[in-house]
Amino acid sequence: MNIILLGPPGAGKGTQAHRLVAEQGMVQLSTGDMLRAARTSGTEMGKQVAAVMDRGELVTDEIVIGLIAEQLDSDASSGFIFDGFPRTLTQADALGALLESKGQTLEAVVEMQVDDEALVERITGRFTCGACGTGYHDSFKKPDVEGKCDNCGAEGTFKRRPDDNEDALRTRLFAYYKDTSPLIGYYYAKDKLKRIDGLGEIEEVAGQINTALDL
Ligand code: AP5
Repeated sequence: MNIILLGPPGAGKGTQAHRLVAEQGMVQLSTGDMLRAARTSGTEMGKQVAAVMDRGELVTDEIVIGLIAEQLDSDASSGFIFDGFPRTLTQADALGALLESKGQTLEAVVEMQVDDEALVERITGRFTCGACGTGYHDSFKKPDVEGKCDNCGAEGTFKRRPDDNEDALRTRLFAYYKDTSPLIGYYYAKDKLKRIDGLGEIEEVAGQINTALDL
């Protein structure tokens, strides 16, 4: 089953994608993670996108479509989770064409609805383990032992994203409402859209997603 997790910055897409990977064996394709990895490894493309990402603007369609195209031959018998992709109508059309060319289909688009004030709180409190990528939050998801990752046990590796500040977040929200929110109507018209309330606790949101996907 191939699905898209659609929602504004901080909606919980990454959190729920990690869970679906662990519970269902699905493969997460996060364009944000791929772009951050390109930056860390210092590739030409990584250098090219760094300032754009830090400002909270969208990277070009060409770059992100290329990143996804490279991954679609990966072994994913339980399906792909597209996390943070597509973000524009051009990307959505490209994904449809890519899946079709591989003889694959898109089963569902889960729209995670969260109000803007909660997004600011979630983003400004977020940090992740630099070793394994597990996500945490200052209030909503603290590690069991301060400074130590619950998942991989690494110590002193927690880090915060450079675009998790108020200015960049404002730009990211603007990009979401201007360029990404039209995808809600696009997928509704294709009868793929499942709307869930992303404001509840992480486990409640997980339950709603499972129900929406018949898991
Ligand atoms: P990307 O990495 O995709 O960032 P984003 O969409 O802004 O989403 P986030 O990762 O910030 O949020 P999330 O929804 O995953 O929330 P999370 O689960 O972490 O993109 C970054 C940048 O890359 C873009 O700005 C752009 O420049 C570029 N880019 C990426 N893809 C692109 C594309 N396709 N086209 C063009 N450019 C692209 O949760 C947030 C926090 O809240 C965490 O701390 C978590 O613990 C907590 N939390 C989660 N769920 C709950 C809950 N239910 N209750 C309480 N707390 C919760």
